[in-house]
Amino acid sequence: MNMNRYAVFGNPIAHSQSPLIHQLFAEQTHISLTYEAILVPLTLNELSKTLDQFQKENGKGANITLPFKQEAYFLVNTLSDRAICAKAINTIRFNLNGSRYGDNTDGIGLVRDLTLHQKQNLHNKTILILGAGGAVSGILAALIAEKPAKILIANRTATKAKILANRFIDLMPIEYCALENLKKPSFDLIINAMSVGLSGTMPVLPNGLIHAKTFCYDLVYDLSSLTPFLVWAKNQGAHSYCDGLGMLVEQAAEAFYLWHHIRPNTTKILKIIKT
Ligand code: ATR
Repeated sequence: MNMNRYAVFGNPIAHSQSPLIHQLFAEQTHISLTYEAILVPLTLNELSKTLDQFQKENGKGANITLPFKQEAYFLVNTLSDRAICAKAINTIRFNLNGSRYGDNTDGIGLVRDLTLHQKQNLHNKTILILGAGGAVSGILAALIAEKPAKILIANRTATKAKILANRFIDLMPIEYCALENLKKPSFDLIINAMSVGLSGTMPVLPNGLIHAKTFCYDLVYDLSSLTPFLVWAKNQGAHSYCDGLGMLVEQAAEAFYLWHHIRPNTTKILKIIKT
């Protein structure tokens, strides 16, 4: 019998940890599957064609990563509420009747990492988000659900922060400003969602954003060294910080649950990946 196929689709995709993570989940839960990393060319309609082909060839589930999360949103039949909030998806379930269900597990992945692994309680806390792109769109609803006291989005292009804040106005009044106008006071949690990546340079940020208990979180991860944002955080005196590896594992666990109705033990998998 052909094994059920799962895969992550993106460009670039070679360094994705998702195949390893899902293979470890599968071993832990005794489920037989294959999980591939599929490179999607950046030409028009290529994601649609690649997904069609995959579905025909026993594809049961897909993860979607950069830069296709917004495009994939339009390639499914039904959507979860959190996907609708995000206007982007990172997970597809191919149903037996041929229909596709789209979900976004990024926000819950971030919040589970923050609350379960990093032991952060977000209730009544002040949160600064740096950046206002697709990643922020994916995490805002889940952060708001934790009932923080305040969220401020600071972005290089202030209008993008404003548009994003307005989109979520029914859930919570979100403050916004241009990165260059950012100033004190300090925040309880600072999340970096600027795509300065692993080797880019951090823009200049004012001093005084960090207090003794500020937790700094970078959505990207680097298995070998601190990201530029975390170097900045450390230099500013942050005592607690982490990169997005835990979020990656938690968003994967939520996708795994959607496909297989079993929740893997993420603490064990994180330990394996970190060693
Ligand atoms: P993602 O899906 O990772 O969120 P994105 O939608 O392209 O990617 O968003 C990238 C974010 O990083 C944006 O907020 C972008 O700021 P602009 O909206 O002004 O473009 C931010 N960003 C990228 N490079 C940056 C830099 N060098 N300094 C400050 N912000 C940067």
